[in-house]
Amino acid sequence: MDKGSLEKERRRMQLSRRTVLTSMVAAATVPRWSLAGQGRRILVAHYSYMGHTKSVAETLSTVVGGELFEIQMAAPYPLDLERMATQARSELETGKLPPLLGKLPDMSNYDLVLVGGPVWWNTIAPPVMRFLEETDFKGRNVAAFAAYALAPAHYERNFAAQARNASVLPGLMVSEFDISERQADGAISSWVRQVMSGRGPQAL
Ligand SMILES: Cc1cc2nc3c(=O)[nH]c(=O)nc-3n(C[C@H](O)[C@H](O)[C@H](O)COP(=O)(O)O)c2cc1C
Repeated sequence: MDKGSLEKERRRMQLSRRTVLTSMVAAATVPRWSLAGQGRRILVAHYSYMGHTKSVAETLSTVVGGELFEIQMAAPYPLDLERMATQARSELETGKLPPLLGKLPDMSNYDLVLVGGPVWWNTIAPPVMRFLEETDFKGRNVAAFAAYALAPAHYERNFAAQARNASVLPGLMVSEFDISERQADGAISSWVRQVMSGRGPQAL
């Protein structure tokens, strides 16, 4: 591994260590603004490569009392960031999206579906794209949440275009730095209230 790759790997390990700690704190804390038990059937589906989206998904599922579903790839991306990025970029460019592991949830079991993933190249990461491609959201309220490093860019607009037959509610786009520092709780809380009230669909 050359010096640049080593530095990237070191940073990735640092980020994942921080994420594990953040998730542990999130799991140990029952948010005061819990909205669990409002009688809605909620699914929190998510894909995460480095753990930020996963941490938001776990907080959301605790707060809304939703069921967690992890979107997993049949053959996960390599741990090496450069190889992973090359593969994912080619998937986005060719539209040949990676197969997912196992059976996807039956949407008829839910009233509200929250779908999370990272922003990659200004848009939706391929495993989440694949999840959207394979899912018919007919009659469901659906909202996106995503973690980004710089800007969410076209994520929400692309999500609304890809979520088949969904009634799309406004999304939650959070910076990974806010997630790591636990400064996203306020935004998560007000977003949860908004989607729970079913406001939308949003014109994106
Ligand atoms: C392949 C790749 C592409 C990315 N592209 C963007 C981007 O276009 N804009 C951005 O703000 N962040 C981008 N990021 C940063 C991720 O969105 C950010 O690290 C996010 O927190 C990752 O979420 P996760 O920890 O759930 O995997 C990219 C990261 C990777 C690995």
